[in-house]
Amino acid sequence: MRKPVIAGNWKMYKTPKESLAFLDAFLPLVEGHTRDEIILFPTMSSLGYVIDAAQGTNVRAGAQNMHWLNEGPYTGQTSPTMLVSIGCRHVLLGHSEQRLYFNETYERVNLKLKAAINHGITPIVCVGELLGEREDGKTEETLRTQVRSALRNVSSNEARRLIIAYEPIWAIGTGSTASPEIAAEAHSIIRHELAHCCTQQIADGTRILYGGSVKPENIGSLMKQEEIDGALVGGASLIPTDFARIVQYQ
Ligand code: 13P
Repeated sequence: MRKPVIAGNWKMYKTPKESLAFLDAFLPLVEGHTRDEIILFPTMSSLGYVIDAAQGTNVRAGAQNMHWLNEGPYTGQTSPTMLVSIGCRHVLLGHSEQRLYFNETYERVNLKLKAAINHGITPIVCVGELLGEREDGKTEETLRTQVRSALRNVSSNEARRLIIAYEPIWAIGTGSTASPEIAAEAHSIIRHELAHCCTQQIADGTRILYGGSVKPENIGSLMKQEEIDGALVGGASLIPTDFARIVQYQ
């Protein structure tokens, strides 16, 4: 029912030239692959190039962030209408690096989520607990709060296209992936909260991706979990052969 999504978050890596070189190598490796949706998230300066170069292929590209308004005196920001104008239909929201280093708030994630939905952009909302929160037994509370606040005043109908990425902060860029069981347990908490905020039907239909040190070697065991509907990959998505191996998990 839930088509898996394998997404690559390039963070602040790759110039347009490097992005196009990636596609040259990557596209032939995944040509004809339809089992999973494949989405790349390049930097804003490369996004338009990647969208154009991937046209007509099975690979999509989205933005790593956006503002919620259409225009205004907001230096450094990109609006939903601007993203739509270059053919962008996906956006990452509330990534932990935005929350930790750029003061992204629950309230703004909610505003951005609503704006994305209104503009036909599929939001991938990132949630995840800090190591300290896990150690203090606060994982469930943190995840529920993040999901609930993102979905504030969002109707079930509007939440239909939502994708969530569970990215435990202690697993990002550290090499210590969450075990498939730990990830699945967190996904199940998130799905319960979705049922609570929206409907059981929305919860059952929402793709929940796992992110945090996903590699070609561990994707297979993660994807065997019923609760895990795909992956949001950082470091390993920068190398065409590695990312293609992740897409082709068994
Ligand atoms: P890594 O795969 O490098 O741990 O990054 C995960 C991530 O933050 C994806 O958004």
